[in-house]
Amino acid sequence: MESGKNNFCVLILAAGKGTRMHSEKPKVLQNILEEPILFYPIEAVLGAGFRHVSAVVGYAGEQVAGWLQNSYPDVETIWQREQLGTGHAVKIAADWWKRYDHVLILPGDTPLITSDTLRSLMERHVENNNQCTFLSFDIPDPEGYGRVIRDGLSVRIVEHKDATAEERKCREVNSGMYVFSSSALASVIDDLGCENHQKEYYLPDAIPLIHKAGGRVEAFKASSHTEFHGVNDPIQMAESAECLRTRILNEAMRKGLKCMDPRSTWIGPEVVIGEDVTIEPNVQIWGKSEVGNCARIGSFSVLRGAKIGNGAALAGSVRIQDSVIGDHVTVGPFVFIRENTVLAEHVHVGRFVEIKKSVVGKSSKIPHLSYIGDTEIGTGTNIGAGTITCNYDGVKKNKTKIGSNCFIGSDTMLVAPVELEDNAVTGAGSVITQDVPEGALAVARARQRNIEGWHSRKQKNEGGKD
Ligand code: UD1
Ligand code: CA
Repeated sequence: MESGKNNFCVLILAAGKGTRMHSEKPKVLQNILEEPILFYPIEAVLGAGFRHVSAVVGYAGEQVAGWLQNSYPDVETIWQREQLGTGHAVKIAADWWKRYDHVLILPGDTPLITSDTLRSLMERHVENNNQCTFLSFDIPDPEGYGRVIRDGLSVRIVEHKDATAEERKCREVNSGMYVFSSSALASVIDDLGCENHQKEYYLPDAIPLIHKAGGRVEAFKASSHTEFHGVNDPIQMAESAECLRTRILNEAMRKGLKCMDPRSTWIGPEVVIGEDVTIEPNVQIWGKSEVGNCARIGSFSVLRGAKIGNGAALAGSVRIQDSVIGDHVTVGPFVFIRENTVLAEHVHVGRFVEIKKSVVGKSSKIPHLSYIGDTEIGTGTNIGAGTITCNYDGVKKNKTKIGSNCFIGSDTMLVAPVELEDNAVTGAGSVITQDVPEGALAVARARQRNIEGWHSRKQKNEGGKD
């Protein structure tokens, strides 16, 4: 089949505006589970083994082309400057798809389509030696879809707006996903007219033309309609998100994920979950996050671009962005870790801590109420409660370096740039503005003065009132 696939190309139609989204952003770039809608059909196509893929862009095409260039540099973009209908979109791309034997065409706004379905469509087309095979399905409420009208061996599609009352009763509809033999499509694509209700060139009109020219045409009926659910407005967007969310969770749970409350757990399509992971209720994991084996993610945690090590435990309300959490690290509750922070194995980050752009060495601890920014910490160091790295001087961010096996007293202010060598100790409440040499104790605070009898003198001065 592999060589067969190389004779296949895929054209994704993504030039439409999506008026009902009420958004400046083109529809195919609206996010579902934090990935653009267009991400999903592309992944389905690539997952089915297709390699030659193009997308027709038009409305806000620079944005769509820009995203494609970034995320899928191998997917070509073809411009449709004016959106004159699906038939027109396919026609302007003809020079590209004519180079292949068969072209799979699908809309860019159907995120639920799976690789399996696309693969079986392609196989059906090849096995039956068809010139056109398209996916149809039955739906209780066919409003808006093109109806599949079968007449003996011939099949045609009538758009909802053009259909007669009798034709509208038909519940078998067109999915908008087709495989054409390129030569058959090429021989009719210039003959499409636009004498219809929408004054558009309809791709489905190519089907009866191919049949008339003696080509084999088949409506291949899918068993369920879920995969063809299009996204046209925010309600359908939420419905598709819900389907995808459940699909992702079920797949992860089949592989061993212990998800305590699937109703409140959100995992993006790019997330990789290890073995025997536990997720507490109300968790979100997005982007290219990875969760290691036997890790536990506490309630209300939000991970985005986070790599969580094996056996790591995040207590509740931990937010991690673009950072790496080592094996057996414990974090939280109420922690914010961001911007390329790296915690080595067995680090402990406790309650109410923020860490930004910092590296923390093996077995070091930051147990309570600290801000650590632009900092490097060695191994086995303890950072006392309330320690702050004062990294910002109002103009630029400065670095703090803390060695291994240091003991930073509670409420130490480390005014960066500053370096503390290995085994350094700071007295609680110190404001450290100078480097601390290896093994030294740095105390930088006013000496305590006790003023005897203060309370009774104060009472006398105030006339004995308490
Ligand atoms: C289309 C089919 C209909 C089918 C339905 C399934 C046609 C005429 N009708 O209707 O039979 O039941 O899909 O969902 O094809 N697009 C372009 N350029 C254009 C016009 C559209 O790229 O000039 C893209 C859109 O962005 C969209 C896709 O083609 O991704 C489908 O177009 P749309 O206008 O949504 O067609 P439907 O009315 O849904
Ligand atoms: Ca549509």
